[in-house]
Amino acid sequence: MNQMTIAEVLNAPAAPAGKTTVGGWVRTVRLSKGGFAFIAINDGSSFDNLQIVAKAELPNYSSELARLTAGCSILAEGSIVESPGSGQRFEMQAEEIRILGWADPAGYPIQPKHHTYEFLRTQAHLRARTNTFGAVARVRNAMSLAIHGFFQSRGFLYVHTPIITASDCEGAGQMFRVTTLPVGGGALPAEEDFFGRPTFLTVSGQMEAETYACGLGKVYTFGPTFRAENSNTARHLAEFWMVEPEMAFCDLAGDADLAEAFVKHIFSAVLTGCPRDMAFFDERVEKGVVATLEHIVASPFERITYTQAVEILEKSGQKFDYPVSWGSDLQSEHERYLTEKHIGRPVIVTDYPRQIKAFYMRLNDDAKTVAAMDVLVPRIGEIIGGSQREERLDVLTARMAEGGLKPESYWWYADLRRYGTVPHAGFGLGLERTIQFATGMANIRDVIPYPRTPRSAEF
Ligand code: 4AD
Ligand code: MG
Repeated sequence: MNQMTIAEVLNAPAAPAGKTTVGGWVRTVRLSKGGFAFIAINDGSSFDNLQIVAKAELPNYSSELARLTAGCSILAEGSIVESPGSGQRFEMQAEEIRILGWADPAGYPIQPKHHTYEFLRTQAHLRARTNTFGAVARVRNAMSLAIHGFFQSRGFLYVHTPIITASDCEGAGQMFRVTTLPVGGGALPAEEDFFGRPTFLTVSGQMEAETYACGLGKVYTFGPTFRAENSNTARHLAEFWMVEPEMAFCDLAGDADLAEAFVKHIFSAVLTGCPRDMAFFDERVEKGVVATLEHIVASPFERITYTQAVEILEKSGQKFDYPVSWGSDLQSEHERYLTEKHIGRPVIVTDYPRQIKAFYMRLNDDAKTVAAMDVLVPRIGEIIGGSQREERLDVLTARMAEGGLKPESYWWYADLRRYGTVPHAGFGLGLERTIQFATGMANIRDVIPYPRTPRSAEF
């Protein structure tokens, strides 16, 4: 038995000889008057379905095959032949079809018709069987591979930073508590808790990545991060994946160069690795998304300082919901104006005011700004946030105090500055926002298999 995936069949240089077996879930069935069933199946390996042609002479034709409906699972055996009319190069002339699982049409939610994304979120366990979610999953996979490929080929070590942590990297107080203390049982002290102290799900692997970079040079993390921010937007998740490279002996300019090369590498890998899925997104989800990605890969990112960005926004004559003034954070509408309207391609904004950025960012000589950078892209706004890190112990300690953090809780982080300190820098790329941008999907909930958002964790 020569079992193949649909991708292997459709991409074969010539029709495979002999008998081939293919398994899949039925998308559509058409019965012809001439005594044939045309059964389109998909197994997730490819965007395109495989057409199975079943003759009425098959022993289970009227008892089973003529009763197949969307969602049934089958295993078909037969010969692969050039297809006269299905729009594919190949189809299967079936000699035997086994039904593995029926799918009652009265109950099966993924009928072959248009479904809204909102509806499919309520069927997240079955939505991988749709065109859109299959394509998103394949793009997400290709992107993950490209991420590892990029760093591995540049000598970065993949390090696994902890998910449970006692420190708030961003100092923003958006952490989920991790506890084994009884719920609702009164306030037991944290010393009684599993770890003997308050612990949380990490918001970022950065601090631990810094410790490894200050020993191994170039490292990166790639894992889930968690934020209990109550933002019900199309760009926020409570659980999302972040890629965080960290480099010793590197400053902000080197960090921005890496970010630009990284984003270009990811988009170019998706264009070459998933052409069929990208053609679908271009046709059905966001017109022009392929050309946009090609343009990004081919042109340099703009670089401006926060101060310049504020000047541009003030002079823009645009009416914003949030006022613009030096010292306040850029809102998503401001980010989008800069990258979509003013510049028309990705822009790296650097040197933000110290009071709106995290304590670990290196203080610039002007004492007003820090060596921070955000990479902004059209439609989404920020996909990367990064910085050169404060390597001077006295300045770091002062910045912690300024942010209301207890320096003694970060003693191990401060040790990096106490013993053999070096300039170092890194950034975090939000995987889901990057997939959103590359596919044109409007809502971040539709680019991760099981989105976690306020009041939603069903599956
Ligand atoms: O800008 P952020 O908060 O940076 C950090 O966490 C740094 N410690 C990273 C570093 O320097 N190593 O987050 C980085 C990126 C954002 O640019 C955004 O793409 C994504 O993570 N992100 C989110 N994505 C989805 N949902 C959320 N709630 C997100 N918060 C941040
Ligand atoms: Mg940020």
